[in-house]
Amino acid sequence: MSSQAATNITQTHYLIATSEREILTGHHGVVVWMTGLSGAGKSSIAVGLDHYLNRQRQHSFILDGDNLRSGLCADLSFSDKDRHENIRRAGEVAKLMAEAGLIVICALISPFAADRQVVRASCEKSSIPFMEVFINAPLEVCEQRDPKRLYQRARAGAIPGFTGIDSPYEAPENPEVELRTDLNTLEECIQQLAERILEKTVLDAAA
Ligand code: ADX
Repeated sequence: MSSQAATNITQTHYLIATSEREILTGHHGVVVWMTGLSGAGKSSIAVGLDHYLNRQRQHSFILDGDNLRSGLCADLSFSDKDRHENIRRAGEVAKLMAEAGLIVICALISPFAADRQVVRASCEKSSIPFMEVFINAPLEVCEQRDPKRLYQRARAGAIPGFTGIDSPYEAPENPEVELRTDLNTLEECIQQLAERILEKTVLDAAA
């Protein structure tokens, strides 16, 4: 990335407002930002939620950390600095997709509260609703699940800077939604979250 920020930029204003796009999708756009430890269940909930919403004829799409890291964010490491940039990029893309009227389901560890706050502020500045969703399971549970065998390798010293082991995770203090995936089934978590989302996305019939 160039260290020189772009200058001489003039905004292009579009003819179609987000509210007009939402008439076509039939609902408001929203950024649903799932944060939590690796193995907490973010991707599983994202996939199930996306499927459920699609069957409800809601237009959703997933931005998953692992997937973004093979494309848009393929140049980024897991250093703190690169994680900040990872979240910034994902947040900017999510906001644009929500401006297009989509329900954007983001599933990234996003360990730093300040980075999540930057995404929230950026969405709110553009009048895009932002829901922070804490996918909460204790570290011991995530480590026991270890679906990708990454905790095992991190404990063995093969993955330095692994979140929860030797890199911090800052849990949200006031998330819009908190899902305890160790106490509820996957289906219960999806259902709870879908209900909260649909409350936010329903269009005012009078509008
Ligand atoms: S974030 O911290 O920048 O938000 P992101 O969600 O994109 O992380 O990617 C996390 C995924 O990368 C994990 O699910 C795991 O599969 C993989 N991964 C590889 N190395 C690490 C690491 N050092 N810390 C956390 N996750 C890692």
